[in-house]
Amino acid sequence: MNFYIETNRFILREFRETDLDDLFELDSDPEVHKYLGNNPVKSKEDIAKGIEFVRQQYKDSGIGRWIVEDKETGEALGWSGLKYETSDIDQSKYYDLGYRLKRKHWGKGIATETSEAAIEFGFDNLNLKMISAAAHKENGASNHVLQKLGFKQTNEFLWEKEPCFWYDLPLSVYLEKTLQS
Ligand SMILES: CC(C)(COP(=O)(O)OP(=O)(O)OC[C@H]1O[C@@H](n2cnc3c(N)ncnc32)[C@H](O)[C@@H]1OP(=O)(O)O)[C@@H](O)C(=O)NCCC(=O)NCCS
Repeated sequence: MNFYIETNRFILREFRETDLDDLFELDSDPEVHKYLGNNPVKSKEDIAKGIEFVRQQYKDSGIGRWIVEDKETGEALGWSGLKYETSDIDQSKYYDLGYRLKRKHWGKGIATETSEAAIEFGFDNLNLKMISAAAHKENGASNHVLQKLGFKQTNEFLWEKEPCFWYDLPLSVYLEKTLQS
């Protein structure tokens, strides 16, 4: 399954085997994994398995995270987008918004810009009624991005003994926000 979505600065597309080196740069960085369980990837074999896993999700669920490609340089900067997930709170299924970017590209509004496109895709193309997300309580950037996008914190839970916030963005809130802008 192929995806192609354009934002102002980025192309959002499916994971490919050729993304191996860029994803290794991303996932071998301990700073990137600071709020993700502190377990950065050690081998490119694990990245290759991860790419296959995401490509299988496209087939099984019709959606999965997207590579964020810089329109000017062609560099794969990381990933962003939706995933059909199992909740850590009650094991129910839901659509999760997430993002992970190479450290050198943090602070340029990339998570915000690409998430806006993913949210639009989820509500307009997948006809979702709700998109949810989770972030470690101390992950200031991620919590800020979610709140800026209109997500409301509705719960708290422990993931691998780490305190996390749970967020929801219902379709009604998205529509209201879209009408106002
Ligand atoms: C989380 C992450 C994707 C954010 O990406 P990004 O492209 O830098 O995010 P943006 O630039 O769109 O927005 C970041 C916002 O958070 C703010 N911010 C940054 N650090 C912050 C902090 N410690 N506390 C509060 N706000 C913070 C920025 O000022 C910016 O807000 P603004 O646009 O209102 O100024 C990036 O830091 C990352 O890849 N982290 C590692 C992986 C990760 O933690 N993923 C999320 C898991 S839940």
